Amino acid sequence: MIFRKATFSDVESILKLINEYAQQGLMLARSRNTLYEGLREFVLAEEDGKVVGVAALHLVWDELAEIRALAVHPSKIKTGIGRTIVEKLTEEAKELGVKTLFALTYQPGFFRKLGFKEVEKDSVPQKMWKECINCPKFPNCDEIAMVKEL
Ligand SMILES: CC(C)(COP(=O)(O)OP(=O)(O)OC[C@H]1O[C@@H](n2cnc3c(N)ncnc32)[C@H](O)[C@@H]1OP(=O)(O)O)[C@@H](O)C(=O)NCCC(=O)NCCS
Repeated sequence: MIFRKATFSDVESILKLINEYAQQGLMLARSRNTLYEGLREFVLAEEDGKVVGVAALHLVWDELAEIRALAVHPSKIKTGIGRTIVEKLTEEAKELGVKTLFALTYQPGFFRKLGFKEVEKDSVPQKMWKECINCPKFPNCDEIAMVKEL
C-alpha cells in the first residue's frame, strides 16, 4: 500500500470512489471541476495501481482546516486506510500551523476513534460554514460536526 499526494492521473479514480458513495447518500458528490481545483489537497492510498482511499485537507481560515471527501473503497473498509490517510493529513495540517481540524460527517464513530469530538454546530467558527451555501442540502444540514484541537 502506498500513501501519496494525488496527481492529475488520479482524478477519474477519485471521482468514481467519491461519487459512488455520494449516490448512496453517504457523502457529498464532487464535480470534476472542483476536484481539479482542489487536487493538491488530496492524499490517497494506492494498491496494485488502484486508488483505494482518499481524503482532502481544506484550509478554511486562520489556523482552521477541514478534513473532507474521505472515502475508502468498499472492499478495503476497516483495514486502517481511512485512519492512515487522516493521520497523514493531520501531520500536514500541523506543519501548516492549523490549530483546529474539523469534519462534517455521517461517520462520527470513525472520527471519534481518531480523537475528534462531537460539537454543536452552533459552537464552531462561522467560517467553517462559508462553503455550505454551495451544498445541495443547505440549509438543512444533517451532518455531524466533529472537531480536533491540534
Ligand atoms: C468512514 C470510512 C472512511 C472509514 O475508513 P476505514 O478505512 O474503513 O477506517 P479504518 O479502518 O481506518 O478505521 C479506524 C478505526 O475506526 C473504526 N471505524 C471505521 N469506520 C467506522 C464507523 N463507521 N463507525 C465507527 N467506527 C468506525 C475502525 O473499526 C477502527 O477502529 P480501531 O482503531 O479500534 O480498529 C469508510 O468506512 C468509508 O469510506 N465509508 C463510506 C464513505 C463515508 O462515509 N465517508 C465519510 C465521509 S465524512
